[in-house]
Amino acid sequence: MSEKQLRKTAANFIGKRIFDYEELDSTNLEAFRLINEGGSKHGDIITAKTQTSGKGQYSRSWVSREGGLYMSIIVCSKADENLNLITFAAGLACIDALKKITDTSFSLKWVNDIIYDGKKLGGILTQSVTRGNISTIVCGIGLNLNSRVSDIEDENNKAISVFEITGKQTDIDILIKVLCESFEHYFDEFQKNPQEIIDEWQKNSNILNKKVFFEANGINKKGFIKGLNAKGHLIIISNGQEHILTSSKSLKIFD
Ligand code: BTN
Repeated sequence: MSEKQLRKTAANFIGKRIFDYEELDSTNLEAFRLINEGGSKHGDIITAKTQTSGKGQYSRSWVSREGGLYMSIIVCSKADENLNLITFAAGLACIDALKKITDTSFSLKWVNDIIYDGKKLGGILTQSVTRGNISTIVCGIGLNLNSRVSDIEDENNKAISVFEITGKQTDIDILIKVLCESFEHYFDEFQKNPQEIIDEWQKNSNILNKKVFFEANGINKKGFIKGLNAKGHLIIISNGQEHILTSSKSLKIFD
């Protein structure tokens, strides 16, 4: 492991310390090891060139070939019910940073996917631990950049990488720097004006009016997405009735 510094960064606290590994089981697991040893600081970043046991949402694994970006950001926040918005902030930071570095536009899909042309370029796994009234959040980001990934498919999407879209290699260190700056901007916004994060996320996703299958009280239902409420939860209309789905519940969205 080496500790590296971001050069000429505009970020004040995100990425002030970067723990950079050649290989890890998972950057999220390493982040929690650091937290549990009492050695973590607000804004710390863990990066790895590959992961042998990358974790995805819903206990899936995350294929982590060399040439991708695998990083976890550690942040502390007041423990409250808005913490799910940090995943939105991270998604917005990812598409902003990718746009700046690759000159390509990406969109967001509920609740943590970075999408290009219906295919999955990246994902976010946010986990947290709360002690007293402070939560420590680990925001794990995986982006397919310089490797070929079109053979990978999870149950919702085929995968795609920046290289497969643009034919160009991405400088991962520069992307990390820009991502840190972008994440800091949205984390700040999350603390000052959470509704702004919800509005921005909705603007950059294509979820409105999408047809969905979902589960409510153990019953499978069909409906459509009306939008997000003030907590960042999904509002779904089914047979004229409103249902609220939190990010922890999976649902099938039809493109
Ligand atoms: C998903 O879409 O299912 C979320 C994928 C998150 C993958 C990243 S890679 C860096 C960090 N470490 C992990 O083990 N997972 C996250």
